[in-house]
Amino acid sequence: MITITGATGELGKRIVQQLLLQVDPAQLGILTRSPAKAAALAEKGVTVHQGDYDYPEALLQAFRGSDVLMFISNTDIGRRKEQHDRVVAAATEAKVGRIVYTSFVQYDPESRLAKSHADTESVIRASGLPHTFLRNNFYGEPYLVEIELAMKSGFYRTPTDSDAGVSFTTRDDIARAAAAVLVGDHHTGKVYELTGPENTTPTTFAEIAGELSGKTVLHQQTTWEELRADYVERGMAEEWLGLSVMLEQMIASGKLGRVSNDIELLTGKPGKSFREYAKEQLG
Ligand SMILES: NC(=O)c1ccc[n+]([C@@H]2O[C@H](COP(=O)([O-])OP(=O)(O)OC[C@H]3O[C@@H](n4cnc5c(N)ncnc54)[C@H](OP(=O)(O)O)[C@@H]3O)[C@@H](O)[C@H]2O)c1
Repeated sequence: MITITGATGELGKRIVQQLLLQVDPAQLGILTRSPAKAAALAEKGVTVHQGDYDYPEALLQAFRGSDVLMFISNTDIGRRKEQHDRVVAAATEAKVGRIVYTSFVQYDPESRLAKSHADTESVIRASGLPHTFLRNNFYGEPYLVEIELAMKSGFYRTPTDSDAGVSFTTRDDIARAAAAVLVGDHHTGKVYELTGPENTTPTTFAEIAGELSGKTVLHQQTTWEELRADYVERGMAEEWLGLSVMLEQMIASGKLGRVSNDIELLTGKPGKSFREYAKEQLG
């Protein structure tokens, strides 16, 4: 039995789709707070467990009998420590055969986001459970809006300098790699870095927007105050401002550009670059 948390989300539903191509639905279980969201999966024969990272008993029941648990990180970074500790404790008590965790490519104690993933890896290691870590880079999907804005204005505005970029990946590629790791039997103790095949710098962003719009688009380096002002002007809610600036600061650090070929190694097919993805979505 493979049990998947976060299975109704954008990443989780893609992982379930990939698994359904390879295993009998009766071998799949998912966790959701709202089983109605997973009615179509239940109809296919997938076991739907109602559960919440806040309620240990339901987690224990959902995880019992799992050969592999796909643990997709929670959405609320502020509550990650307590919720993730609960998930790992329940998985340990349920004696799951292996836990596969969606971690992050970079260890950086200065970054709340990166640290939360590193802390979860530590808790999983300390649990003694066999495990596999998928260290994912940023998804490219949320950055399509930046390309659209640059296409309109002729400028890609960011404080990040021209060389610092991200080897963006996509949820589709992560899902293909995750399914391979869940179904395969030789991934215990392994760490995979799931990145795209190209480092997308601000210069690349401007190039992509230029190619898509047929006009010249330039990278315009702003200050951090100007970035905040741009976000406010776009109508970004106050609650997202801090996180969005933090993500841009992580990009500006220049530490997210490393390219790994683990997606190709796991799936036999290279991951999609942000350039290909943006052209496919916006072209
Ligand atoms: N690398 C990146 O660039 C990047 C970007 C965005 C997110 N992420 C990470 O990747 C994860 C998955 O992303 P996504 O796009 O699939 O997110 P999403 O579409 O928002 O889905 C979130 C999932 O988490 C589940 N969930 C939320 N709170 C829960 C709780 N208290 N108990 C149990 N389940 C809970 C939801 O299930 P129900 O609502 O059905 O209960 C849903 O299936 C995120 O949680 C985040 O950690 C990474």
